Amino acid sequence: MTVIAIDGPAASGKSSVATRLARRMGFAHVNSGAMYRAVTWEILRQQLDIVLPEQIEAAVQRMSVDSGFSESGDSFIRINSELPDIELQTLEVNQSVSSVASIASVRNLVNSQLHNLARQRPIVSEGRDIGSVVFPDTPHKFYLDATPEIRRQRRASQGQDDAIEQRDLLDSTRAHAPLKVASGAHVIDTSHLTLEGVVDKIVETLALSGLHPA
Ligand code: CDP
Ligand code: CDP
Repeated sequence: MTVIAIDGPAASGKSSVATRLARRMGFAHVNSGAMYRAVTWEILRQQLDIVLPEQIEAAVQRMSVDSGFSESGDSFIRINSELPDIELQTLEVNQSVSSVASIASVRNLVNSQLHNLARQRPIVSEGRDIGSVVFPDTPHKFYLDATPEIRRQRRASQGQDDAIEQRDLLDSTRAHAPLKVASGAHVIDTSHLTLEGVVDKIVETLALSGLHPA
């Protein structure tokens, strides 16, 4: 199993970098945040109250979930036969996803999908706890960061209404698998780097540990 783990706060560049890195390396790209967003979207669709964890636990037990790879090499997740896409970036999902992701049964559900995907192909997986909890044994761990101001600007220029400070606070202070720099992770400040600049740095680091494009 080969996993390149990329973690970091909101708008640090994880998805853009992971997509490009996966293409460069010939790996598949697995966006774990999209999985937490998809579960959140389904919970909102069922009109459940996200402050009642028992309701969410029960809904998770009933959910039929499967994931796989599209032809482009990106992961997808299907929930109760639906394949959410742009719905995942809505204000409602942005506002609720960190609460939903703090629930242990939700994390177990996503983690089992991630392990299943990693058994099928070499992957670049991005999220908050990929290097610390989901694949702690991978030697290929990166943590992307950028100043709060730059991350706010980036999200705003994507045209999204997203209170990233609030999500970052919830994500880094929760009991289960909080956002943190995993032991052994290479920290990259992306504030003043281009996306290709970040990818170049990661490819160089991987080459030093003997991992080369397929
Ligand atoms: O793209 P952005 O960094 O804004 O968020 P995302 O990666 O789509 O993740 C959305 C939310 O899912 C995060 O704010 C976390 O609450 C949760 N998440 C998590 O708890 N663990 C992960 N491995 C990935 C995402
Ligand atoms: O996945 P995450 O929320 O960490 O970040 P993203 O969605 O990949 O990046 C947020 C925005 O910042 C995107 O529009 C990227 O193109 C941009 N970005 C950038 O311009 N330069 C970087 N070094 C990293 C991200």
